[in-house]
Amino acid sequence: MSRPEHTAPPELYYNEREASKYQQNSRMREIQTVLTRRALELLCLPDRKSCFLLDIGCGTGISGEEISAQGHYWTGIDISPHMLNVALEQGVEGDLFWRDMGQGLNFRAGTFDGALSISALQWLCNADRKSHNPIKRLNCFFQSLYKVLSRGSRAVLQFYPETAEQMNLIIQSALRAGFGGGTVVDYPNSSKAKKIYLVLICGPETVLLPHVEGLMDSSVSYLASKKAKRTAKGQRITLKEFIRRKKERQRKQGRIAVRPDSKYSGRKRRVKW
Ligand SMILES: C[S@@+](CC[C@H](N)C(=O)[O-])C[C@H]1O[C@@H](n2cnc3c(N)ncnc32)[C@H](O)[C@@H]1O
Repeated sequence: MSRPEHTAPPELYYNEREASKYQQNSRMREIQTVLTRRALELLCLPDRKSCFLLDIGCGTGISGEEISAQGHYWTGIDISPHMLNVALEQGVEGDLFWRDMGQGLNFRAGTFDGALSISALQWLCNADRKSHNPIKRLNCFFQSLYKVLSRGSRAVLQFYPETAEQMNLIIQSALRAGFGGGTVVDYPNSSKAKKIYLVLICGPETVLLPHVEGLMDSSVSYLASKKAKRTAKGQRITLKEFIRRKKERQRKQGRIAVRPDSKYSGRKRRVKW
């Protein structure tokens, strides 16, 4: 079956007819609900506390309804006005914004306690216009996502990468933006049931909490450690050395606000939850 991303840009693919078909498809609703439930589990939100979440590619609000059902508040963005119209007709509880995630998320820094995205991210890997550059759009998206999340919070993005290159592109872009985290693959041995979640941590550490592992039939992999860095010539150096060289360069450039060297530079920090 051909992928919807190959058919038309999302704002055209999810037209009035498709949006109404999508909402009425009970199987689709069930899948989106199950995926959202799992994403919420991977977000590891604090118990008995309502959080404020961002739903990226919120569509008709099926994922949002599950967020509300679990006692959280949410805001959704989507590129398709028709999907958003259906969400409005459904009377969803979240606030809705008509936005293209490839152009960045323009909310205030640290607004959200977490973010999730169900079956939307793969759309960003396509260039639907001459002006579209998937790498630039992914970078813009992840950088703005990092900004709008509170430190120590997570983003869980379930998506359908088409190739290993796409997967790599997405992971590299998330890393560049400063995220740590990893991928969780449910049912890795079933081509049909396999589901991939990018679990991103907004903070300096690259760890996953232990209870993420072992849920369902999952395999967990970590994103490449940000502890090792490369010089312009490709030589691998430690983060501490990287910081030292950067400060040295800045001092040579005559910058005055360079922090003094410290034995704590580049140290491992604990993520606060
Ligand atoms: C499969 S639907 C998922 C909908 C949603 N999770 C739900 O439960 O209803 C994917 C959604 O991603 C949205 N999308 C695709 N590309 C996007 C972009 N660049 N910016 C924002 N939304 C996008 C589509 O318009 C569509 O509504």
